[in-house]
Amino acid sequence: MRILVTGAAGFIGSNLVHLLRRQRPNWDLRVLDLLTYAGHAANLEPHLADGSVELQVGDVADPEAVEKALEGCDLVVHLAAESHVDRSILGSAAFVRTNVVGTHTLLEAARRRDLPMVLVSTDEVYGDLGPNDPAFTETHNIQPSSPYSASKAGADHLAQSFVRTFGMDVRITRCSNNYGPRQFPEKLIPLMIGRIARGQPCPVYGDGQQIRDWIHVEDHNEAVLAVIERGRAGEVYNLGGECELTNLQVLEGIGEVLGEKPLLEFVKDRPGHDRRYAMNGAKIAAELGWRPRLNWADGLAQTVAWYRQQEPWLESIRSGSYQDYLQANYGAR
Ligand code: NAD
Ligand code: TYD
Repeated sequence: MRILVTGAAGFIGSNLVHLLRRQRPNWDLRVLDLLTYAGHAANLEPHLADGSVELQVGDVADPEAVEKALEGCDLVVHLAAESHVDRSILGSAAFVRTNVVGTHTLLEAARRRDLPMVLVSTDEVYGDLGPNDPAFTETHNIQPSSPYSASKAGADHLAQSFVRTFGMDVRITRCSNNYGPRQFPEKLIPLMIGRIARGQPCPVYGDGQQIRDWIHVEDHNEAVLAVIERGRAGEVYNLGGECELTNLQVLEGIGEVLGEKPLLEFVKDRPGHDRRYAMNGAKIAAELGWRPRLNWADGLAQTVAWYRQQEPWLESIRSGSYQDYLQANYGAR
């Protein structure tokens, strides 16, 4: 079996490749990744150096690159995306190109070859919940709030249209907020680990009472593996961590692991900020027997420890265009 994994030089995809190498060593893995600011070939080591994973550097919105990447493959797992809400507020064109046009390019090419696809979508396509609303199920309305989530909803809708119109085998996972090793330090948890460890102020958007349903990336990827092997064509699977926390609770948790009190700096809220996400994972539990396994305390301790040992990785990121992004996003708050 040869699998194409798009976007696997990034956070979730690289962790998926490591998991598949460990758990399915006989599978051939090929990666298609543009190596944007969020993608690092080093995330795939040692598998690139030992030749057990092949990396093709290319754009999912480029039909030629996609054709070449699909040659000889049996299935595609599509993760490549522009993934950060704040960046989509600063500029959304890349989100439409990669997330909508890129997904469409891949769907067309996979359909012509009759290849199944697992599309890694997100809980953010549903919009947000009030404090007492039940968690999202797969039949909840798609009602995205940010340019990021709207572009992911576009991808998700296109995939569903290819199922209905062409009978294509696409399976969609919609997962909540991931944390774990190799997440780019623009997202809440790795950003704040660095800030709290260095005694710097933590920029809290609005009142910090927004709720996310945190899941360790390893649990997410176990679910993706279950969907690759046993998921039903055309089905959507919601995945969550069974771990709803406010952003302030997350900061407290990081502070406890580091033995430091976070220095909170309340800043201007994110425009359109989703208040609460929560996922109902009953369907995937019943059909595929998947549930998240890692608890928050252990997962967070492991994640903090990983970041504390990765100074060279973080240093290579902190230089250059990352500083420009920090200035653009936080400079005027
Ligand atoms: P990431 O930003 O860490 O990685 C994205 C990867 O895609 C990078 O390696 C980047 O180089 C690559 N990429 C970007 N544009 C590309 C293009 N045009 N062609 C080819 N490659 C391109 O993102 P992530 O957090 O690992 O998320 C992976 C997927 O999971 C995304 O589709 C995201 O929407 C989804 N998701 C993420 C979360 C989360 O909490 N991070 C939760 C649910 C779903
Ligand atoms: P993020 O990691 O960007 O994920 P998402 O917006 O996709 O859920 O943010 C998680 C939460 O943390 C979200 O409510 C926004 C908040 N947040 C801050 O308060 N300060 C920050 O500097 C960042 C990056 C996020």
